[in-house]
This record gives sequence, structure tokens and C-alpha cells, in this order.
Amino acid sequence: MSSNKSKLSGLMRSHNCGELSTQNIGQTVTVCGWVNKYRNLGALHFIDLRDKFGVTQLGFEEFKGDISELKNFSLESVISATGIVRARPENARNDNMATGLVEVQVTAVKLLSKAEIPPFLPHGSVSATEDLRLKYRYLDLRSKKLQDMLALRSQTSRSAREMLYAEGFTEVETPILYKTTPEGARDYIVPSRVHNGKVYALPQSPQTLKQLLMIGSTDKYFQLCRCFRDEDLRAERQPEFTQIDIEVSFPTMDYMKNLATSLVRGFFKLPDSFEIPTMTFQQAMDDYGCDKPDVRFDLKHMIVTNLFKNSEFSVFKSVASDGGLIKAMFVESSTAEFSRKQIDELTDVVKPHGGKGVAWFKQNGAEVTGSISKFITPDVLKSLNALNGNKTNGTWFFFADLNHDRANACADATRRHFGRSLNLIPAGVNKFLWVVDFPLLEWSEEDKRFAARHHPFTMPRLDQLEDYFSDDPKRLGSVLAQAYDLVCNGYEIAGGSLRIYDNKVQSRMFDVLGMSKEECELKFGFFLEALKYGVPPHGGMAFGLDRLIMILAQTESIRDVIAFPKTNAATDLMAQAPSEPNPEQVKELGFQWLK
Ligand code: AMO
Ligand code: AMP
Repeated sequence: MSSNKSKLSGLMRSHNCGELSTQNIGQTVTVCGWVNKYRNLGALHFIDLRDKFGVTQLGFEEFKGDISELKNFSLESVISATGIVRARPENARNDNMATGLVEVQVTAVKLLSKAEIPPFLPHGSVSATEDLRLKYRYLDLRSKKLQDMLALRSQTSRSAREMLYAEGFTEVETPILYKTTPEGARDYIVPSRVHNGKVYALPQSPQTLKQLLMIGSTDKYFQLCRCFRDEDLRAERQPEFTQIDIEVSFPTMDYMKNLATSLVRGFFKLPDSFEIPTMTFQQAMDDYGCDKPDVRFDLKHMIVTNLFKNSEFSVFKSVASDGGLIKAMFVESSTAEFSRKQIDELTDVVKPHGGKGVAWFKQNGAEVTGSISKFITPDVLKSLNALNGNKTNGTWFFFADLNHDRANACADATRRHFGRSLNLIPAGVNKFLWVVDFPLLEWSEEDKRFAARHHPFTMPRLDQLEDYFSDDPKRLGSVLAQAYDLVCNGYEIAGGSLRIYDNKVQSRMFDVLGMSKEECELKFGFFLEALKYGVPPHGGMAFGLDRLIMILAQTESIRDVIAFPKTNAATDLMAQAPSEPNPEQVKELGFQWLK
């Protein structure tokens, strides 16, 4: 870890605990930190003193004070020690420690803050539960792992800023107390005391604000901004998270990709020759069943619907005849031989995605066994082998559903499950994709209307404007967006689009989304008005900073990369947030509290 030598005088220490080396031998130094370890060998006393930068051994052979005082130096107490740097005796050298060749022979020591026995030791060998570590986050933050995360996050933010400044961007802050900025989640709202009964909404992203900055001629904007979304949490989601938010005037799709590529090269230290492969949304869905495929391993899906139109297997026959989707995956015997238990477990993998089961059979040349093998005719087998490159030794898996999304989701979940459980993912490899040609709209069966796939400010493809203004739901549903996602290792790490800059096209969007004129005026009147006064074509994107750091740090939990994260239930275990408001506050706000 870096020594971060301070350039200014005035700190209580002369050196930090990670920087002393044989070059300092003979110097008088002062170090401050936490008691990591205390060894009392009778005649000899040693303390390992720790700070963010490392550990330094303190010896007390030349200490003239009251040595019994050291008994008060409980683990995790904070002390300062002054002494002379000495080479350690040959037999006491520790080559595994950055400062292992030297020690400080203490002449004066001071207890600055005595620690009670902590609920767990940040460097202890016993691992505490995550809930306990979150409750005492400040203790967990003393671990090297979390300090390294904070450092990585800080460096990544810094390099983002430097790259964007170099490209002519201006960093602008936008308000947190604002109005709805729809990104598909629920808003967090803040009641106003001054305006009784009224609320602000916290931004789900600064989407409308950054577009207004473009209308205001800011040209190139960025911000490392906090976004707030009340949605179901997952391993890679938090209710508040950080974006590297970007907006540009007069861009083409090419510029947006060039910008993303250059940022990715910087973050991941990739050569100038590195390019991000482009994939269409449709290709991603066909081959991987999702719009953010993990392409670090192969195992592509095959679409086999037509092979089962006349099948004896009634489930597949009806899915195939009634417009459903059947997908297959083939795992070669050289990759895995599946036990019955492993196959049965797949039901649990697809269940959360609405799947009822996973049909399968094993193929050994012309011989087929297991589950649906009795329905696999030689003709069907031949067609399957034509799809999988004529590999004839392995296990076939099938995912069938009338609802294409459900079939895709089950096949995607199983592919990801195999990626992990069969160790198909190479370590230390990052694979990127630039996904384009997303549908502009998606039909919500629940609400019986269209919703914006990205957000309602995304520009439809110009060659499809006629479809966009048509009232035929089929034509509307076919319109593609000028939008793009940046995917890395199966995570969406950035997303964006070119924006609508025409008032009529924007009003049409709200209309398609089923918003009445009044609702539109109430929520976005100011924005629609701004579109009347000269709008530069503009576009942008936002990187999810937390997800980016997760990948850079190779961790699976978003909580690892946030200093004070929330649990999966959106709570803070340390401060016990959220908490009940006090009745006075509620009254002042003009609200009635329903228990
Ligand atoms: P989008 O909603 O795709 O786009 O968000 C951009 C990126 O933010 C990250 N992200 C999250 N990270 C952690 N927790 C969450 N709950 C969460 N939600 C999203 C993802 C995602 O790729 N305004 C648009 C961008 C634009 O069009 O310019 C937007 O917010 O990594
Ligand atoms: P059954 O004839 O219902 O016993 O099903 C035979 C096999 O097909 C079992 O392994 C089921 O798990 C599987 N199965 C059932 N429904 C589906 C489906 N929609 N997609 C894929 N496999 C299925």
C-alpha cells in the first residue's frame, strides 16, 4: 500500500506505520495508530502498531518509563510512540512485512484513546457475520480489504474526473431535492415543511437536469452524483448509488462509443488498441437470453422451437405450436458429466424465473437416455447436432415457455449457474460488450400499456419515426431506440442514449406511455417548454460507479465497495435508519401518520 507521505507539517506523527525501512535507521520518529498486538515476554515487550498504511513493531528495551503502563494498552487502543529506528536482530526479521527489517525502540509512549473489547477484531482470524460487521462498520473499515476498496474507489473517481476534464467536460452539481426523474423505480420523497403537504422527490438520476444543462449550452457535462431508487434490492443494487453521469451536445452514436471505450481503457488499464465489441439486443437475447450476457464463457443458447412442432412431448408441442419459445443448451461430457442430483437442482435455478422445470437428455453418439429421451426421434437428434457443431457426447437441456421472456430468463439463469458451478469463468479476465438496437418500448401485461425500456427521453431510430407515430401497437412495439448499454462480465456497468430534442416527439412519448395531458404538464411541463427554445441534439450515458468498482475489485457484493452501505432490506444497521419520525415533525409537515 502507498505510504502517502504528507507534504505539510503539523501532524502528530513524523512517519506512518507503513513507511519505515532500513533507510530510517538511527532517526528519531513518532508513529501513531491502533494496538494490533501486544506481546509480553517478561523481559521483552513488543507492540505491533497499525494504521491505514501498515504495521510497525515497537520495542521497549530502551524505555525508561513505567513499563507496567503497557497493560492498559488494550487491543485497538490508539497510542502514539516516539523512539529511534533500529535494525531488527537477524533472527527477528520478518520478510513478509513491509516494515519487517526495522523496529522503533520507544523512548516515550502515550495512550490517546483506550479501547474496550471490540465485538470483533478487524484483522482477527474469526470472521464475524455480515450483520455484525455492518453494525460496527467503522471497525470493519479498519480492515485492509475495505481500506483498499475505498482507495480503489477514490482512484477510479479521480481518473474518471481527469479523463473527462481532458476531453473538455465541465463538472456541474445538480439538486437532490427535486421532482420526479423517472428511471423505472419508485421515487424517494421528502416532505416540505415550508409548503405543507407537498413533497420533493430525490433524483433517480439527474436525467432531465443534465438535458437542461445541454439546452443551457453547457456542451459537455459530467457529475459523480448520487441517485436514489426505491426498488427491489439485489446483490448488485443499492437504494442510493453513485453514477458517473455524462451528457454531451452534438454527439453521434460513434462519439458515445468512443467516449465509453476511452473511459474503459483508463479504468481497466487497457491498451489504445482495445475496442469494445458491439452486439445487437436481438443477438444477445437469441444467444444468451438476456441483454447483459457474460461472454467470458461460451455455452450459447440454441433456438429449437421448430424442432418440436410435431413432438410427442405435449408440453413442447403446445409451446411450439402456440407461438412460444424453446431454447436448448448443450454441455459436452468433457466439460461435465451431470449427476441426477445436479440435474434436479436446476429446478430451483429456474423456479425464481417462473420456470416449471428443465427437460434434459444425455446423448452418447446415436444413443439417448434420461428425461425426455423417449421423445427425441433420430430426425430431431440430427437437427440438434446440426445446431451444436455436431458434438454428440454430452447433456442437452431445454427451456420451453409460451412467454418468450420467461423461457429466456430460465435459460439465462441456467447458463449463469453452469458458468459458476462448472468453473467455466476464467479468473482475472474482463469481457466487455456494447449492446445496441434495444426496443424503444416494452409492453407491460400488468398495466396493459407500453413502458419506456430505457427512459422516456430516449430518441427512437429516425428511420422508424412513422412507426413511432402510428397507433398500431405492433408497429410501435417494433421501434428501436438510439440507446446503448456497456456490459462487463454479465453486469450492466453503463447505459445511455441519444435524446429526443423535439417537443412533438417528446410529447408523443408521454402519450404512448399513457400519460394524460394534465399529468404530463404537472410532471414535465417545464421540460416540454424548454424543448421549445432551441435544443442542441444531445446524448449521454451514466456509469454505475459501484458496479464498476465491484468488477475492478473482483467482489460479488456491492456492499464491499460502499463506505456505509445499506442491507438488502434497505436499512442501515449502524445508525438504525430508517427510523420513526417524531410526532412534532409529522405535524409540522402537515402529514397524518398511519401506523
Ligand atoms: P440507468 O438507469 O441505466 O441509466 O443507470 C446507469 C447505471 O447505473 C447503475 N445502476 C445502479 N447501481 C447500483 N444500484 C442501483 N440500484 C442501480 N441502478 C442503476 C448501472 C447502470 O448501468 N439517466 C440514465 C443514463 C443516461 O441515459 O444517460 C440512467 O440512469 O450500472
Ligand atoms: P413431465 O412430462 O411433466 O414429467 O416433464 C418432463 C420433463 O420436462 C421434466 O424434466 C420437467 O422438469 C421438464 N419440463 C416441464 N415443463 C417444462 C418447461 N416448460 N420447459 C422445460 N422443461 C420442462
